[in-house]
Amino acid sequence: MKQIDGHTRLCGLIGNPVEHTMSPAIHNTLARINGHNLVYVPFHVETGQVRKAVEGAYALNILGLNVTVPYKGEVIGCLKETDEMAGKIGAVNTLVRTEGGYKGYNTDMMGLYRAMGSEGIRLEGEEIIVLGAGGAARAVTFLCAWKKAAKVYLLNRTLEKAEKIAEEVNRACGTACVEPMRTDGHGKIPADRQYLAIQATSVGLYPKVEDAVIQDMAFYEKIHTGYDLIYKPAETKFMRLTRQAGGRAFHGLKMLLYQGVIAYELWNGITVTEDDALTVYGKLREGMEAGHN
Ligand code: ATR
Repeated sequence: MKQIDGHTRLCGLIGNPVEHTMSPAIHNTLARINGHNLVYVPFHVETGQVRKAVEGAYALNILGLNVTVPYKGEVIGCLKETDEMAGKIGAVNTLVRTEGGYKGYNTDMMGLYRAMGSEGIRLEGEEIIVLGAGGAARAVTFLCAWKKAAKVYLLNRTLEKAEKIAEEVNRACGTACVEPMRTDGHGKIPADRQYLAIQATSVGLYPKVEDAVIQDMAFYEKIHTGYDLIYKPAETKFMRLTRQAGGRAFHGLKMLLYQGVIAYELWNGITVTEDDALTVYGKLREGMEAGHN
């Protein structure tokens, strides 16, 4: 960020709560590196105030907003337009200023895709296991089907929730690739090949770091790559078990990084270089170590 003056542009985050966000570190670092006169701040928005917040932001000439829990669905009704993938997922986390209103994107999923790509992980044609059937797992399942995965086993403790998502995603993406399953039925997943597994439950999140949705090593023998959306702790039990069975494992901090990088690119019409993204990543890691999250 340069000195705040009459030309300073504003971006921000709306949600409730927003106090623990690491997004200001991402965007204010990118602004500084790129010499942009832009400031990013969190806005705590109360229940029932989302429409007013979005309309007010537009009236104030705010360049862009991120949206976090619990407003990623509700905000869609306040937009001029929604990107196709975000519309199918039904969740928007980035608003980009356009003529007459904001356009919504889901850079969480675009960011996950870019983060995985940066580690050489593909979704196209892959056989994938998704753990969970909450909001995060739902978006991940959409992303996998959208990118034409060959197969997605969707495992959840509560089968009905996995069934509902499978039905929805298969219908929306014109596929039959998503197969719902109870988590404890993982033994039915064919063991003659190996899978990418994406951990999208809240299990294993700090401070309950010794928890994992599946503890059975026979499951981890089937995993070539484990991707946990959790980034605190930096090595979850799921990641540790994946590594013990010989697979590669990643946490979700790069997903957080790239959802921010992509939002910044959309707001400013630029491409952030890999070097700059890695500088921001360093800041995020420092923030994690200092406990600012
Ligand atoms: P988010 O929106 O972050 O995805 P969520 O909607 O609360 O969060 O979903 C949490 C997910 O973690 C669900 O899949 C949940 O399983 P259920 O649908 O059966 O509740 C899963 N989860 C949470 N605690 C769990 C536990 N102790 N064991 C197994 N799964 C758990």
